[in-house]
Amino acid sequence: MNKLNVVILISGYGSNLKNIINYNKKKEININITCVISDNANANGLKIAREENIETCLIDNKKELGQELDKILANKKMDLIVLAGFMKILPPNIIQKYFGKILNIHPSLLPKYPGLNTHEQVIKNNESEHGATVHFVTEKLDGGPLIIQGKIKIKNTDTIKCLKEKVHKIEYEIYPIAINWFQKGLIKQEKNFFIFKNKRIDKPIEHILG
Ligand code: GRF
Repeated sequence: MNKLNVVILISGYGSNLKNIINYNKKKEININITCVISDNANANGLKIAREENIETCLIDNKKELGQELDKILANKKMDLIVLAGFMKILPPNIIQKYFGKILNIHPSLLPKYPGLNTHEQVIKNNESEHGATVHFVTEKLDGGPLIIQGKIKIKNTDTIKCLKEKVHKIEYEIYPIAINWFQKGLIKQEKNFFIFKNKRIDKPIEHILG
């Protein structure tokens, strides 16, 4: 099978990036990370990429994001864009141009809690469960077709910090799975749903944590 050319967009720590690199090394996914793009020059994820000899690219925040990204992406070999903690909202021109080829990971059980501060909100609202979701990206913030989700039960003793850690662990399992499905052609984005193994799916696939 041909390697999938993947561009990864980050803004910060980059632990999902590191995890994807590790899965690739273990051959559990088979991708070629052609570039790591960041809007933050100090992002730890850039350091991770450089240590792995992966090309990096910095977004010029003084320029209009849509034009800037379009220019950067046009020069990259790319079958898939993976958002891994990219903190800017992708502009419509990028979402339209690369329809069906953009994945994001979000730290909540979408459609609940799109946007920021998800761990704080689940605690405040006394939720009994929490988790992470991989989805296709559309113009609706964190609102594209939901592909795969992993859940945990919330304990009374859980703090924001420990929820963050537990949710990260889920992310490290579900993002490589979704990338692998994409690579094998098992998932395909339609407007408000996606196709998995030739069947229409309207709800995320539940991943039982390993
Ligand atoms: C993750 O929780 C992800 O769901 C969210 O941003 C965070 C990125 O973490 N979109 P890291 O930079 O991969 O450690």
